[in-house]
Amino acid sequence: MNILTASGIATEIKQHFEESLRQSVNEDEFIKESCTPLIQGGKRLRPMLFLLCAKYGKNFSPEKIMTLAVALELIHTASLVHDDILDNSKKRRGIETANSKYGAQVAVLIGDYLFAKAFQLVAKGGYGDEVKLILSNLVQNLCRGEIMQDLSLFHVPTISEYYTRINLKTAIFLSACCKLGGIVAGLKREEIDGLSFYGNSLGLAFQIVDDLLDFFGDEKVTGKSLGSDLKSGVITLPVIRTLKVSRDADILRQMITRRIMDRDEIHSAIKIVRVSDAFNYCRLRATAHIESARINLPQIKNSVKLALEQAADFVVMRNA
Ligand code: FPP
Ligand code: MG
Repeated sequence: MNILTASGIATEIKQHFEESLRQSVNEDEFIKESCTPLIQGGKRLRPMLFLLCAKYGKNFSPEKIMTLAVALELIHTASLVHDDILDNSKKRRGIETANSKYGAQVAVLIGDYLFAKAFQLVAKGGYGDEVKLILSNLVQNLCRGEIMQDLSLFHVPTISEYYTRINLKTAIFLSACCKLGGIVAGLKREEIDGLSFYGNSLGLAFQIVDDLLDFFGDEKVTGKSLGSDLKSGVITLPVIRTLKVSRDADILRQMITRRIMDRDEIHSAIKIVRVSDAFNYCRLRATAHIESARINLPQIKNSVKLALEQAADFVVMRNA
């Protein structure tokens, strides 16, 4: 599901966004052919949050802010292209990854291209220094999160280490989208801070649900293979919880220590996680972050507030 469908954004703006995004990778034959599938099928959560928060302001001008919405989606896509190389993923959103199609060398460069394209749009859009600083900080944090993850593969993190990682790799991005929306809308500092906090809490919930879907999702719906985090050594909240409460914790821990898991072992590991209370535990945590996101929404423009509340519900209820 594309979240823009369910949001409080008008159809013409959604179409304008999709068209501008398509145009952004239209420059030459190879870029068009390789990047068009990569920008399709996403949930559009980041640009949607940005556009919704931008709507909080009095002078909402889609023309003025569309390039930043597109740049946010391009940065996200670039990070996924690189992430698929790091995770050696073959499929994303149900289609072959750039890594699998063109090999790691070309895929790195496709990611770099998308990333550079995003910053070209920001430069052309004439956004101020604060916007540029937020964007560069968010990319640095994405990299920190990924480095942290890659340096601790097959290591069981503490809850606090897990939170640091998901904050860096996901929550800061969603927070930045909301903050940028508030900035271009010309909101007051405390309102921007409220939106930024909302985005951060939403991001924590989003990543917890993402990690849950790796064990409880439907491959046909998520477009990703079940158990792929565990297979690549990324130990997430469902596993941390299972290791704490399951009767089969030792079996699971041994699989992680041995590092290499074949198909049967991944199946057994998924089963162990599924019969533990990890699902309810993670859902409860995600719901608590969503509640805290709602509470911190600034008290302005009811229609936008409603849409942001719906976005929060979407994050916990989603199945892909
Ligand atoms: C998906 O996470 C990946 C990220 C949230 C961030 C990836 C960031 C980088 C690779 C840093 C480089 C960034 C740029 C802009 C070039 P996941 O692996 O948990 O989710 P998945 O299941 O969708 O793969
Ligand atoms: Mg990944």
